Amino acid sequence: MKFFIDTANLDQIRQAQELGILDGVTTNPSLMAKEGISGDAAVKGHYVAICEIVDGDVSAEVISTDYEGMIAEGKILADLHPNIVVKVPAIVDGIKAIRWFTDHGIRTNCTLIFSAGQALLAAKAGASYVSPFVGRLDDISSDGLHLIEKIRAIYDNYDFGTEILAASVRHTMHIIECAEIGADIMTGPLSAIVGLMKHPLTDSGLKQFLADHAKANN
Ligand code: E4P
Repeated sequence: MKFFIDTANLDQIRQAQELGILDGVTTNPSLMAKEGISGDAAVKGHYVAICEIVDGDVSAEVISTDYEGMIAEGKILADLHPNIVVKVPAIVDGIKAIRWFTDHGIRTNCTLIFSAGQALLAAKAGASYVSPFVGRLDDISSDGLHLIEKIRAIYDNYDFGTEILAASVRHTMHIIECAEIGADIMTGPLSAIVGLMKHPLTDSGLKQFLADHAKANN
């Protein structure tokens, strides 16, 4: 399972990179705005800065919602760095744009996936990744993990090459369950990634080992 970090914060990306387990980064317009990145040049510069930290795919989202606009924007984003993957929303024009990008060798991440049907069409259009939003479905008392299971079954039935990028992952159990289901990738916050290492028995066991070592060596 690949691990992506879902942030535009360079410090957190660096910290995740230093763990030695990072495979890529996802961003979205809200995450960029949260870091105070605004204006065309600053946004592009920030994507390049992220690509220089991580040797892996970096999703950069288009703002346009019409076919022509998405193509124009996506071409510029893809030209910024070979690791950029153009993030396109799961709307009708988005599917048409994904087909165009696929036919022109530009990799895509179809985002805002909330149904198996959206994931099926994105795969047929040749999306490199689909991003089903687990946490946002859970937020409305739906079952985000069940959607991952359904997409896994559909993609396996037909050998689609599109990778399932479980997004809107909020906590460590989401990560574990996505791994059990067979999501190809998960993208989540640094806290959820680091949280995988937390166990009280590890902490108490280590404390005891160090205390015994100190006693024996005094
Ligand atoms: C996915 O690529 C999105 O950036 C992200 O995972 C959304 O997560 P959220 O629902 O926590 O905002």
